[in-house]
Amino acid sequence: MAFNAAVFVDRKIEEIREQVGNDIAICATSGGVDSIVCAFLAHRALSRNLIAVFIDDGLMREGEPQAVTSILRKRGIRTVTVRAASDFFRALKGKEDPEEMRKAFRDKFYITLGNAVRKYRARFMIQGTIAADVIETKGKIKSQHNVLSQIGINPSRYGLNVVEPLVMLFKPDVRKVGKALGLPSSICQRMPFPGPGLATRIIGEVTPEKVRLLRKATAIVEREMKNVKAFQTFCVLLRDRATGIRKGERAFGNIIVVRSVQSKNAMTASPTRVPYPVLERIETKITAQIPDVTKVLYDITPKPPSTIEYI
Ligand code: XMP
Repeated sequence: MAFNAAVFVDRKIEEIREQVGNDIAICATSGGVDSIVCAFLAHRALSRNLIAVFIDDGLMREGEPQAVTSILRKRGIRTVTVRAASDFFRALKGKEDPEEMRKAFRDKFYITLGNAVRKYRARFMIQGTIAADVIETKGKIKSQHNVLSQIGINPSRYGLNVVEPLVMLFKPDVRKVGKALGLPSSICQRMPFPGPGLATRIIGEVTPEKVRLLRKATAIVEREMKNVKAFQTFCVLLRDRATGIRKGERAFGNIIVVRSVQSKNAMTASPTRVPYPVLERIETKITAQIPDVTKVLYDITPKPPSTIEYI
């Protein structure tokens, strides 16, 4: 049977109201489509009893903290920003193994949220976990940062009761829910952005310098690719270096990978056939604006055998 987003919205609003009652709930909103749609759904159910918490973990894209909080505030959602970048960098310091990085991020994330829960006297946390997150975590492909109960973490350890209204849905239906909630397509069609942010796109230790470099490259690629339709488009910073030439001299610089994929639900994906002139412009802009980069590559690997992100 076809998915009926309007019926889903009505049912979930009822369920959320029943679960949360007159208590305060918080909704962690990273800016990806799932968490934004989840925040709007929960706001419909709870109005002023919902607080959207935006954790500024220092791992966001350029301008994203302002963009996300203004989307939420404009529509009347109580929104607070928690500035925690240095905590996250400290937690990630020295970590090079992908799963260790994910776990360090997740722990810091829930400790930070737990603090917000106590501060705002919330008893519930509403989060935008979707079906693909659960399947991939259970399948041991990677531990998505937001899948808790499914991987045996007791949310009460963090002082939270967790509500996951979108957990049975895949991405296309999440977008339909956003539409049924009256959100413009600029919000419903937002690119997915992983909870651990740019950390999933840095191989090796995550440092503020590497994030700055990657953020700059990402902004260039997003600008240059804005007319190329894709499920996700982004950059990755490799740990390896490559020899290049800067000011007539040898330079051992960074390698940026450009990744763009077509996908319906993120379970499988194929590389975007980006027009060659667009790729050339991306290369020119990145190497001109970021002198530390000596190579720009384009990733042509589908999922499987690859995944979309790099860690
Ligand atoms: P992968 O890399 O597993 O990504 O092919 C599939 C989709 O999930 C997003 N992703 C995440 N989303 N928390 C999230 O909320 C995470 O930890 C996470 N890791 C990957 C990824 O961007 C893609 O859309």
